[in-house]
Amino acid sequence: MPYQTFFYQNHCEISRIREAKPFERRVALTPEVCKQLIQAGFECHLEHDAGKTSFFDDTAYTTVGVTIQNDKSTLLAAADVVLKVNPLTPEEIADMKKGAVAISFMYAAINPAMLEAAAKQGISAFSVDAIPRISRAQKMDALSSQANLAGYKSVIIGAYHLGKIFPLLMTAAGTIKPAKVVIMGAGVAGLQAIATAKRLGAVVEVSDIRPETKEQVESLGGKFIEVKGDESVKIEGGYVKGVSEEFLKKQQEVISKHICEADLVITTALIPGKKAPMLIPEEVVKNMKFGSVIVDMAVEQGGNCACSEFAKTVEKYGVTIVGEANIPSMLPLNASELYAKNISTFLLHLATKDGFKWEMEEEITKGSLIVHEGNIVKL
Ligand code: NAI
Repeated sequence: MPYQTFFYQNHCEISRIREAKPFERRVALTPEVCKQLIQAGFECHLEHDAGKTSFFDDTAYTTVGVTIQNDKSTLLAAADVVLKVNPLTPEEIADMKKGAVAISFMYAAINPAMLEAAAKQGISAFSVDAIPRISRAQKMDALSSQANLAGYKSVIIGAYHLGKIFPLLMTAAGTIKPAKVVIMGAGVAGLQAIATAKRLGAVVEVSDIRPETKEQVESLGGKFIEVKGDESVKIEGGYVKGVSEEFLKKQQEVISKHICEADLVITTALIPGKKAPMLIPEEVVKNMKFGSVIVDMAVEQGGNCACSEFAKTVEKYGVTIVGEANIPSMLPLNASELYAKNISTFLLHLATKDGFKWEMEEEITKGSLIVHEGNIVKL
């Protein structure tokens, strides 16, 4: 009996988990990736119209051998594996059969209700956001694939709200100076934002507090804003783990001059598992150029700007502040294509058509397994 893989998209229901991802348009598997899984011996079932908002209609799936179903509860009850983009809701988990496996973004540390539901139901849960970022897991790295697209889109969003163009333009009527873009945080999203803003012709300045980012920024043509770290800046395994309030004050002083001269500011600074660092207080927004734009990509983690509002675009002191909630979902076609490749590679790492391999000491399995057969193994 082949393993039944069931996947579907988050529709826009009001629920606690959906609050974090209110405008979901992505789907976990594309027709092309389904075809590959079916060839590998898996059976794929899809909720009716699940791919529609990613521009994959039911026919594209049925053509490659996917079965379309209407009743979600029946599907969940039959599935051996449930694949999804966002965390499963406790109600969805309650419909799953004991011993089945769920794979999605789960953010276990901030999602205790989901963990409890998984434990109660006796299922296993793998979280794609917990997959170790080691070289052999790069094809499974959904954090990077989605952040990369979000970095690109953040520049396009900023350009849309800005009342000026990016490149230098010499015309008979006069010369237009290039736009100045400041990017805070040079991780995956920030680096893609730098590359995109440069391609559009902007002058780009960047700040990060991981020392290795200076070279990466400069190789993309960005100018690095140097902020000297102090002993409170904790960096482990390529991530910022924490900074003191005093350091943030010092950093704000250095960067505020650059922010106040910018046309567009894109903030991507995150500290995993913690509230995003405050980089642009209200006082700085007051002093920004009239008509300038901030795209706060950290808004879901509390925001890098004091004036940004979750899932809203607001105007304060003449500055447009975009707090878009789910930027990867604004590019549902590409985001679903990349996510589908990530999650299917992960599935094929964990399972064959006959079931899971359960190699408990293997690094990727161990790192991403959150609930094992009803036992919570990781937060
Ligand atoms: P992230 O989303 O956690 O953070 C974004 C950026 O914010 C980081 O560059 C961080 O240094 C920066 N930041 C934090 N506090 C800041 C502050 N006060 N001011 C300015 N910037 C601040 O990071 P992301 O993009 O998920 O990746 C970070 C790390 O993961 C990097 O070391 C990257 O090389 C590594 N990575 C490794 C991969 C692999 O080996 N397969 C794949 C992807 C990323």
